[in-house]
Amino acid sequence: MKVFLTGATGFVGRNFLDWLVRHEPDAQIDCLVRDPQKAQAQWQTMPPNINKRINWIAGDLLEPDTYQSHLKQAERVVHAAALVSLRNGPEFYRMNTDATQNLLNALSSSDKLQRLVFVGSISAIDRPMDQLAVGPLTEESPPHPNTDYGKSKLMAEEWVIQSGLPYAILRPAYIYGPFPRTNSSMDRLIHHMAAGKSYTRFPFPGRASEVYAEDLAEMIWLATHHPNVENESFFVSNPAPVRVADAYAALAKAVGADFKPLALSDAELARYRSLWYRQQPDNLLLRILFEDFFACAPDKWYRLTGYRPTYGFEEGLAKTAHWYRQHGLL
Ligand SMILES: NC(=O)c1ccc[n+]([C@@H]2O[C@H](COP(=O)([O-])OP(=O)(O)OC[C@H]3O[C@@H](n4cnc5c(N)ncnc54)[C@H](OP(=O)(O)O)[C@@H]3O)[C@@H](O)[C@H]2O)c1
Repeated sequence: MKVFLTGATGFVGRNFLDWLVRHEPDAQIDCLVRDPQKAQAQWQTMPPNINKRINWIAGDLLEPDTYQSHLKQAERVVHAAALVSLRNGPEFYRMNTDATQNLLNALSSSDKLQRLVFVGSISAIDRPMDQLAVGPLTEESPPHPNTDYGKSKLMAEEWVIQSGLPYAILRPAYIYGPFPRTNSSMDRLIHHMAAGKSYTRFPFPGRASEVYAEDLAEMIWLATHHPNVENESFFVSNPAPVRVADAYAALAKAVGADFKPLALSDAELARYRSLWYRQQPDNLLLRILFEDFFACAPDKWYRLTGYRPTYGFEEGLAKTAHWYRQHGLL
């Protein structure tokens, strides 16, 4: 089974590759990486028999000649590479939309492709900023991306759908787990919690959907071949969104932090919310912390695949903290 993976040096791609080599002994994996030395260094502890199944292709999504011949051999393609941040700028369209378009063009003459899995994002759908976000997003929710990141991911989704290639689009919300990107929001939060930073004591009432990276990896693999998901788009997460305040408490427990949340009434929380919204009307993070901005319903995925994530939030956080400790990061 020939697999072609983009983003193998990133957070999602590394978790996917780790899952794949452990669970699918027949998979031969071509990984497109900009820096093969960095990639090899990340995998140097892998047993040699596993390393033999990974082929590092030095190249760049923006330069299709660097990967086209390998891509054409692939039966399953997982496109996880992207520029990821809830921000604005023209670079998002280059790295997310143009890069995806290049990949689709290069795939258009493939006679081997069985499925392309595009790793999307909840940020491609998002919510209007002029209304309170209540309840989870579903696949029927109209797209309303607020950042160039989200807009570029939505445009890339549209290119994938229009390509005529067999695809599945997975839109995770908040992902956490091993192999974190240094200084990512998750990585910072774990260190801030362990250091007892004061904001982690604030009982934010927003609800966010989450998925443990290893579960996401399994869902990505399932999406490469499950018959029910061809040419479909999905939110993928654990069943119920988690209140941010509860997430902080669970994280404190996982990292062994001394945690005393502030006791604030609903009225006090509402006062803080309106004060901070007035001061920073465009701050997306505030909306995520106070509303259901990052909540989604994964029911369609569960219904069509029968697959539910293995790890609940507390268990996934405990595994994440264990990984941090094992690697001397906590
Ligand atoms: N992280 C999250 O919480 C989250 C949430 C929802 C959705 N997602 C989606 O999940 C996917 C993966 O995100 P991530 O968190 O793993 O991001 P990441 O850790 O920043 O990794 C990005 C990967 O893309 C590669 N890349 C970027 N530009 C490239 C190019 N021009 N050519 C080849 N490779 C390129 C990077 O390679 P280098 O190592 O060379 O930089 C890296 O391997 C993205 O599609 C993102 O939208 C992520």
